[in-house]
Amino acid sequence: MDFFNYKNTSLYAEDCAVTKLAKQHGTPLYVYSRATIERHWHAFDQAAGDKPHLVCYAVKANSNIAVLNVMARLGSGFDIVSKGELARVLQAGGDARKVVFSGVGKKSDEIAFALEKGIYCFNVESAAELTRIQQVAERMKMIAPISLRVNPDVDAGTHPYISTGLKENKFGISIDDAFELYQHANGLSNIAVKGIDCHIGSQLTEVQPFLDALDRVLALVDRLAEVNITLSHIDVGGGLGVCYNNETPPHPNEYAKAIADKLADRDITLIYEPGRAIMANAGILVTEVELLKTNQDRHFAIVDAAMNDLIRPSLYQAWQAIIEVEKNEVADKKTYDIVGPICETGDFLGKARELSIVAGDLLAIRSSGAYGFSMSSNYNSRPKAAEIMVDGKENHLIRARETLEQLWQGESLLPK
Ligand code: LLP
Repeated sequence: MDFFNYKNTSLYAEDCAVTKLAKQHGTPLYVYSRATIERHWHAFDQAAGDKPHLVCYAVKANSNIAVLNVMARLGSGFDIVSKGELARVLQAGGDARKVVFSGVGKKSDEIAFALEKGIYCFNVESAAELTRIQQVAERMKMIAPISLRVNPDVDAGTHPYISTGLKENKFGISIDDAFELYQHANGLSNIAVKGIDCHIGSQLTEVQPFLDALDRVLALVDRLAEVNITLSHIDVGGGLGVCYNNETPPHPNEYAKAIADKLADRDITLIYEPGRAIMANAGILVTEVELLKTNQDRHFAIVDAAMNDLIRPSLYQAWQAIIEVEKNEVADKKTYDIVGPICETGDFLGKARELSIVAGDLLAIRSSGAYGFSMSSNYNSRPKAAEIMVDGKENHLIRARETLEQLWQGESLLPK
């Protein structure tokens, strides 16, 4: 559940009228709801009950420091994939000791930075990476806490670009090879084997693939215990889906509880890495209809947001609801393709949507809080959108709209 609702004919974000927000800050505008973020975070946290656990929010979903700070205040951990994400977490007041570091290609300087800051664990994705972490830790005379990210070869049943747990994916270590690599890791001088990790994909709408993956992981945990390699945590990754259209994913509570229940008899800490399930429906992208246009039999609404602001529809053919900010009873209802001003046929935000609109109206693209702004770019030299967070009746600018000067910041002319 989120806090974006109509009051009569006007869309509200918590207690703020979205039209007013757009007037104050301009468009395109990302609007996040603090109450929604907190509610979703608590759903994960509470479902695990008394089981020792840590919710490590996946920073890549939305890495604005105000968003991270809201979760840091709740005591959240963080799942990061780069030095930049770790720096953001620290800047936002997050605790390095609650950070897990995922990703297939950590560079030596990133490993050193994370060691220096004292993160909780490196999720290691290959034998080569394990060697690299050992070397960096040895040079720094430190011990690196690690888990191996195993690839359980489970079909997540999601879009191929966001499926990660299959043999053919680049992620993780084949579960069949992991046993030997654990034994090797256990013998390394500057490595402390702590846990096991898996992440099978994103936008999963069933619990079963998670449980199947967990069964395979637990079989390995038991095999390792037989050779005296005892793990203190299991990281089940992220991946829980949300409702964009008519999907019916399990509630975070149901998902988190199903997993916690499976581990009930084990003396092991549980880590979750949710990104989308916390942030997607905690944000909308507000855009103004610039022009309406009809080509033969197709109607287009050309809006001021584009694929550079929200790439999910173009990249994954993702469907996100597009709704009128003020219900317009007067305008004719027509079926529109909602497109941006970018010079690409793939620049659309939604196709064949029934809307009653005229030029100048505002639209809200729902479920844009995750993988929206964080995947945005400056393509077509478009300054990045502003981001605000509402908190009850108040709203706060958490990222100013980019200026033109920022577009070429760091660039320079040739001397002659
Ligand atoms: N942990 C790891 C290691 C991950 O790779 C990811 C996401 C997560 C956690 C968080 O997954 P979530 O709970 O958000 O599903 N840009 C795509 C999604 C890419 C997901 C990448 N990894 C999209 O917009 O659909």
